[in-house]
Amino acid sequence: MQFSELIDKRRSTRRFTDRKVENDTLRRIMEQALKAPSAKNTRSTRLMAVTDPAKLEAMASMRDMGAAFLPGAAAAIVVMGDPASSPLWQINAAITATMLQLAAVDSDLSSCWVHVGDYHRIGDDPASQRTDDYLKELLPVPPAYGILCVVALGYADYTPKPLPPYEGDERILFA
Ligand SMILES: Cc1cc2nc3c(=O)[nH]c(=O)nc-3n(C[C@H](O)[C@H](O)[C@H](O)COP(=O)(O)O)c2cc1C
Repeated sequence: MQFSELIDKRRSTRRFTDRKVENDTLRRIMEQALKAPSAKNTRSTRLMAVTDPAKLEAMASMRDMGAAFLPGAAAAIVVMGDPASSPLWQINAAITATMLQLAAVDSDLSSCWVHVGDYHRIGDDPASQRTDDYLKELLPVPPAYGILCVVALGYADYTPKPLPPYEGDERILFA
């Protein structure tokens, strides 16, 4: 697929068919994403693929907004970082997550980022459990790792509209 086509096809998708995603496909897109650049080549990002329907169901409760569609996904990739490897682990993880979403398109998959970061399970209640702590109870995430986001993916059950053409605004500057 040409890069220009791939970049247009990447849309956040939250509705998927029942078709499973083979582990070989998950491994391939994770390997591709892990070719992302990282600060000082620290390669601090770690990825964990979750395909167990019961776990995907439980992951939907990690936040009261923005995660409810996870049980309909074929897989969720937890994007983590090792803070001991780099103080820029979150930036490294964000680049990897983005490349994962592009790699997914190249394998005919669609995806959506679900944010974790410093969120709490009840968005407007900072006393509620942190989302990363909840995920660490559910999944074998090493306690020292931070979690940036989860990328839900699967085969889309519709064709999302491509992004509108760039119309030119304050986002691109020349000097
Ligand atoms: C940092 C970040 C956090 C996001 N968090 C969520 C989320 O928690 N839940 C969700 O459904 N979508 C989430 N999204 C997806 C955005 O809503 C989506 O990218 C945006 O609406 C633009 O749509 P597009 O990706 O189709 O271009 C997130 C995207 C980014 C980059």
